[in-house]
Amino acid sequence: MSHPSLNRRGFLTLGAATAASLPMGAAAAPDAAAALTILHITDIHLRPEYDAPARCRKILRAIRQKHRDINLVLNTGDSIYAADYKNITRERVEEQWKLWDEVVVSEFKGLPMLHTVGNHDPWWAAPEGDPMRGIPYVCKRLGIAEPWGHTKQGGWEIITLENSGGSLGKPQQDWLFQKLDSLPKNAPLLIAGHLPLFSLAGDYDGGNMSGAKAVIDKLAAREAPTVALSGHIHIQSSEALWNIRFHCNGALSGSWWEPGDRKDGSYKRTPMGYALLKLWPDGRSECRYMPLPA
Ligand SMILES: [Fe+2]
Ligand SMILES: [Fe+2]
Repeated sequence: MSHPSLNRRGFLTLGAATAASLPMGAAAAPDAAAALTILHITDIHLRPEYDAPARCRKILRAIRQKHRDINLVLNTGDSIYAADYKNITRERVEEQWKLWDEVVVSEFKGLPMLHTVGNHDPWWAAPEGDPMRGIPYVCKRLGIAEPWGHTKQGGWEIITLENSGGSLGKPQQDWLFQKLDSLPKNAPLLIAGHLPLFSLAGDYDGGNMSGAKAVIDKLAAREAPTVALSGHIHIQSSEALWNIRFHCNGALSGSWWEPGDRKDGSYKRTPMGYALLKLWPDGRSECRYMPLPA
């Protein structure tokens, strides 16, 4: 399933491998101009309380002003505070998505975006058959045709997953494995989903995806560089295993816009923030977590 919403504006003309692939000690700096720059935001949890809309608007505006080289925004879900609890009303769901449109859609206007669904995004208390029920409505609000998909940019294959229910399920896993088999053997891959395939953050706090070992084995068998992005835990951790780099990034909302234990908005020592991911066409990558000022 492709991402037809991605336009060509952010595509880069990429040349041969840059001087950055020289051995350590060689006098060369990474060629930033040749990299695809992705803004990774996750767990925005937009809500009317705690002045979140105004604070979020200010943060997003500052990000755009500070990083003028962003080619693509990747949002890995929990976009709204919560629609998944039993007591959530239609009005509450509508209110949160209205804020999403007013703040996030408005501030990122003109930038291509990819989205994955978070576990708090779908309204499960809706009556059976209601058009606002479940994941299709979340996709509609996020402007994505399907909950998972594939595209490519900057020499990288990009796959988004829908694992907000805790695992992939057979139809999606079958699709994923077929897709991986069909990719050019040496093409670097970015794979993103709400729950981490693997993370120490999730190991510590709970929340890594179930059944991920089979997916990790499949990614490892490709041997091409893979970057796996996620959120959900609200704790930042990065790990490397074979050819795979895992980055579970912290939440833009930190402690859901609340002061949290440390009264600075952080969640368990991870500050509110976002990540900048650089992807070079030769498979190198760099992911920097950018904490927000308290
Ligand atoms: Fe979250
Ligand atoms: Fe989550």
